Amino acid sequence: MKVLVIGSGGREHALVWKLAQSPKVTQVFAAPGNPGTAEIGTNVSISVDDLEGLAKFASENGIDLTVVGPEAPLVAGIVDLFRQKGLPVFGPEKAAAQLEGSKDFAKQFMREFDIPTARSMTFDNLEDARSYVEAEGVPIVIKADGLAAGKGVTVAHDRTTAMTALDDCFENQIFGEAGSRVVIEECMVGEEASVLAICDGKTFVSLPSSQDHKPAFDNDEGPNTGGMGAYSPAPVMTPEITRIVDEKILTPAIRGMQERGTPYIGILYAGLMITDEGPKVVEFNCRMGDPETQAVLPVLESDLCELLLLASEGRLDEHPGLEVSPNPAVCVVLASGGYPGSYEKGKEIHGLESLHGAPDTTAFHAGTKEQEGKIVTAGGRVLGITGRGETVAAAIEGAYKGVSKISFEGMFFRKDIGKKALDR
Ligand code: AMP
Ligand code: GLY
Repeated sequence: MKVLVIGSGGREHALVWKLAQSPKVTQVFAAPGNPGTAEIGTNVSISVDDLEGLAKFASENGIDLTVVGPEAPLVAGIVDLFRQKGLPVFGPEKAAAQLEGSKDFAKQFMREFDIPTARSMTFDNLEDARSYVEAEGVPIVIKADGLAAGKGVTVAHDRTTAMTALDDCFENQIFGEAGSRVVIEECMVGEEASVLAICDGKTFVSLPSSQDHKPAFDNDEGPNTGGMGAYSPAPVMTPEITRIVDEKILTPAIRGMQERGTPYIGILYAGLMITDEGPKVVEFNCRMGDPETQAVLPVLESDLCELLLLASEGRLDEHPGLEVSPNPAVCVVLASGGYPGSYEKGKEIHGLESLHGAPDTTAFHAGTKEQEGKIVTAGGRVLGITGRGETVAAAIEGAYKGVSKISFEGMFFRKDIGKKALDR
């Protein structure tokens, strides 16, 4: 089979890495890919928003399955386009991708199907939103309705922060159209976890659980980022919590989307808060998490290509069940100095060759590019170093041992990835 992965981040490198291990797969393409995907497969220089260009490539090259990494092309309708052209693709159609594309849509959906989540109200003007915040008090969570590249959420612990977040959406319009509606939500307390479920429209298979580390600095301090590290599985997801998530969140979500006539085929990412009242949904995403994928896929032993193919054909019930490694994985993200704010690019990355062929440590490229024969930084999150081991402690050690071999100017990373798993 020929497989095409769309995207260029660490998630997509991990997808290419895992799909290439499938006995079914003869060739993997990545569009546009990165230097990491180029080591395994073939990069194709088509951007993720050139939907027609991607469909043309898939059609002309006889691609047997296209896997879409990021949310933007999904929300823009890439799967609808591929299906219209009869091209095999894994991901939700535009209408189903609204679960991530609009937080208000997701909240209404959860209310309709009784899926546990934070209480919320949606506003389309500053005045009403301000009055609501005054009435509710803090802490409170302000969310831009639409896609905001992971930057649209403010957890406000004081009134000024909450009001500034509202001004940023309605007055300063820093998220453009995405912030013209705002969801204001009760602040939940608990530990977070991510569950990525492979769905075929009628049923689902959950991949091993994971936990992201969103804040930029150790001890969950500093601004929120796209994610500074992850581990899988997440010990907070006990068998009992997992059962509740399956029964009260994933099952009604799949049934609800089916009932609405927009069956969910693709990855349903449930971002969860494990509260004293049980697991609640923080957000749904319509794709795999980044960097969660770089920890989850190394733990998965089953053939990912087979799973995605069955799901895309509505035949997930034929899958014999997941095989999962007993060894946990920990991914540490190496970021450019200044991220998630502004940062410099083009810094030469040293030490990557020392991780080539390492059995339990893998360097997943995220924001890198090749320049005059060298690999240089090209984004905020530059690399994800995943370690595996027989215990969480060993996986952490493996990841940081890998990290110690890499360097570039301004490089920073969190030193406490996996600590919460260890503490449990
Ligand atoms: P999101 O982009 O929706 O994942 O939100 C980013 C982060 O904000 C989440 O991972 C949580 O840490 C936090 N967050 C979002 N919604 C809530 C909430 N209702 N209560 C507490 N924290 C939240
Ligand atoms: N790591 C969080 C996300 O992918 O949304």
